[in-house]
Amino acid sequence: MKILVTGGCGFIGTNFIRLMLGSHPDWSIINLDKLTYAGNRLNLLDLEENEPRYDFVQGDICDRDLVMDLLADHKVDAVVNFAAESHVDRSINDPSPFVATNVAGAQNLMECARQRRTERFVHVSTDEVYGTLGPSGKFTEDTPLAPNSPYSASKAGADLMARAYFETYHFPVLITRCSNNYGPYQFPEKLIPLMFLNAKANKQLPVYGDGLNVRDWIFVDDHCRGVELTLTKGREGQVYNFGGNAEETNISVVRTLLSIVGKPESLITYVTDRPGHDKRYAMDFSLAHKELGFAPTLPFDEGLTRTIAWYEANGTWLEQVQSGEYRNFMDTWYEERA
Ligand code: NAD
Ligand code: DAU
Repeated sequence: MKILVTGGCGFIGTNFIRLMLGSHPDWSIINLDKLTYAGNRLNLLDLEENEPRYDFVQGDICDRDLVMDLLADHKVDAVVNFAAESHVDRSINDPSPFVATNVAGAQNLMECARQRRTERFVHVSTDEVYGTLGPSGKFTEDTPLAPNSPYSASKAGADLMARAYFETYHFPVLITRCSNNYGPYQFPEKLIPLMFLNAKANKQLPVYGDGLNVRDWIFVDDHCRGVELTLTKGREGQVYNFGGNAEETNISVVRTLLSIVGKPESLITYVTDRPGHDKRYAMDFSLAHKELGFAPTLPFDEGLTRTIAWYEANGTWLEQVQSGEYRNFMDTWYEERA
């Protein structure tokens, strides 16, 4: 099978490409990535140099001519769309690029794939489209969409467009919605790598609000296996939820991380809350379990220890991605919250 993966130089895309090429000798992958601040071509440089089943193309999913050419020239069987602006805090600062890539870009990809009669299209979405939970219950695929941030609204917009493409054109699209991923190659603006970096540098660890917001953490490989199962076994037009069965408050994640890296809890600083901050996410993934055989495999403590070990061993990667635009964004963000 030949797959066009978009956003493959980001966190989840990188892990997905490595896993899929490693476990499917008959698959080949073209990675289309714009290389925004979050995309790092070096993540997959070894594949570019040594793996004939891997091709990299720098470009934008909004570029119709480029996508049309790629789908035809490479005789693509399936598209997996990871490309997105993915950080909630950035979407609060400026929603525009989120609408451009996450809504218009996703629609452009679907339209090109429809015209090229691509056989399968997996759109990677998020649990954040459901909004927030109270103290009990879980999101199912039937939970109404109620996004609370510009990021989640843009992801919900693409999900609705995908639904419309299925209903209107019988376009073979499938949607995955997953909870918070963690693991190697995650950009250090997200909670776990950011807290690791600050702890190592003996800098303050900024916990938003009271630190009691809950996320359902899933190791990135488990999410990638969920996307793979959706691609190979899922029903067209269906939404599948994925989660890690690992609900943790943010403060508990930060404390565990500090104990793994051997730094004191006095580094924790409570800062002004994120506007519109969702209180709790938890995923009911029983449909994916029943239809696809999905189950998360890694307990949170084990996954976190493995993730920290990867960051400890990959200081050069962290230095690389911390340069330029990222640092400017974080400096401004901290100044505004101090
Ligand atoms: P990321 O920010 O690490 O990577 C995004 C990638 O997309 C980058 O390589 C970037 O260069 C690329 N990109 C951005 N705009 C593009 C464009 N217009 N054209 C081509 N490439 C573009 O994101 P991630 O955390 O790996 O998330 C991947 C996908 O999974 C996103 O769609 C996100 O909404 C979804 N998701 C993420 C999580 C999570 O916890 N990280 C959970 C559920 C779903
Ligand atoms: O749930 C899936 C989503 O998970 C994905 O769709 C998003 O792309 C991904 O970024 C992630 O969104 P979150 O907003 O949940 O992740 P983030 O790592 O930014 O924050 C996790 C929690 O930690 C959240 O409650 C906010 C809090 N937080 C985050 C940062 C960066 C802090 O308290 N301090 C921080 O400095």
